[in-house]
Amino acid sequence: MKICVIGTGYVGLVSGTCFADIGNEVICVDVDNKKINNLSSGIIPIYEPGLEEMVKRNLKQGRLKFSTNVSNAIKKSNLIFICVGTPIIKKTNAANLKYVFQVAKKIKSNLINYKIIVTKSTVPVTTGDKIENILKKNKFKSKFDVVSNPEFLREGEAIRDFVVPDRVVVGTTSKKAIKIMKSLYLPIIKKSTRFFSTSRRGAELIKYASNAFLATKISFINEMANLCEECNINIEDISVGMGLDQRIGERFLRAGPGYGGSCFPKDTRAIVTLAKKFRTNLSIVNSVIKSNENRSKILFNRILKILKNKIKNKQITFLGATFKANTDDMRESPCLSLMPALLLRGAKINYYEPTGAKKELHKFKKVNYSKNIVNATKKADLIIIHTEWNEFKHLNLKKLIKNKNVIIYDMRNIYSPEKMKKNGIKYYGIGK
Ligand code: UGA
Repeated sequence: MKICVIGTGYVGLVSGTCFADIGNEVICVDVDNKKINNLSSGIIPIYEPGLEEMVKRNLKQGRLKFSTNVSNAIKKSNLIFICVGTPIIKKTNAANLKYVFQVAKKIKSNLINYKIIVTKSTVPVTTGDKIENILKKNKFKSKFDVVSNPEFLREGEAIRDFVVPDRVVVGTTSKKAIKIMKSLYLPIIKKSTRFFSTSRRGAELIKYASNAFLATKISFINEMANLCEECNINIEDISVGMGLDQRIGERFLRAGPGYGGSCFPKDTRAIVTLAKKFRTNLSIVNSVIKSNENRSKILFNRILKILKNKIKNKQITFLGATFKANTDDMRESPCLSLMPALLLRGAKINYYEPTGAKKELHKFKKVNYSKNIVNATKKADLIIIHTEWNEFKHLNLKKLIKNKNVIIYDMRNIYSPEKMKKNGIKYYGIGK
């Protein structure tokens, strides 16, 4: 199939490349000239395991192209994927649809024949209806279908999530569009994935509801972890014991520093705002947002307790700065609220991050980036394992911390408290 992907951000780049990899002719377009030039030479702007190789392979085989000529790409394709960003509007907490509608207008002026227009960007319910209204007025009187096909790609696992998804959701009532979308996904859904077609508004809501539910699971287990810390129970036992019930499921029950990233914080706020518009109170999601916002305060108080209220001049090392492992993304990373709170109390912070120094942390004078784990932990009084990168999973902690007074605070529960105790290491996890 001939596919045009508009927007080469995270979603567009991964989806476009994966569509090319399963045999389609794909043109990925963007208004950013530099980005397109780089991509055309196989230089990718984000860190995503396996993506660079896949981009290079498909460029070489001619199935994947990058361009800034949006009109031309639209005209040449029969499937147009809208993958532009829908950032939050700070004042209203609603998704900003400015870029989506700009693209819709561009498609309208190039709609020379039947095309399927697919929204992959996370958009609130009724966005598809609005796009349809824009396209109806096209001067060529061409027919078209507007379909919602939300993405469920996790950063760091995006290629796997694309190739082996739990489900593919397609929202449209057009039989023709369903048939084409099904054949597009055939190489993937053959691997026994469920293809689920529903109404367009239904698909739009499935995306928000899924993210809100996953955020709820995480906040739920984080609150249980708080309780475990008070009752001397290991939260991991609770996660396993609950997760074995198939009605609950074991995934996304890992207690940690709170959810971050570009999706859960943004989408939980946006679904509450959307519901308000439809005069519905999503009280559970509202509580989840508050619970997650409160998470850094709880972790800060725990650090105070661990350091016996003596934070001034303490050297605190963060291993990992991004919101989770296998990404270079700092958006809503828990360390962005923890570090300033620690600095205010006079701490000195060192950090090591596998994807390099972070510009978001440059503004803090007393936050220092170290190029490796050894340097970062040399003077540490407290080491915080902030993300679960593989390289933090097999640290020779005994060798690394020569000073017996160093304390480890493992926010991802990578290590076993029993083993740490045996090795004489002062260790704290989450919910233990
Ligand atoms: C999330 C969803 O998982 C994807 O399905 C969705 O497509 C994507 O948002 C999106 O809307 O674009 P992502 O934000 O990349 O993906 O990352 P996740 O792996 O879901 O993690 C989100 C946050 O939850 C991270 O801060 C992570 O550390 C935290 N988390 C996750 C936990 O604290 N515990 C868990 O058990 C799982």
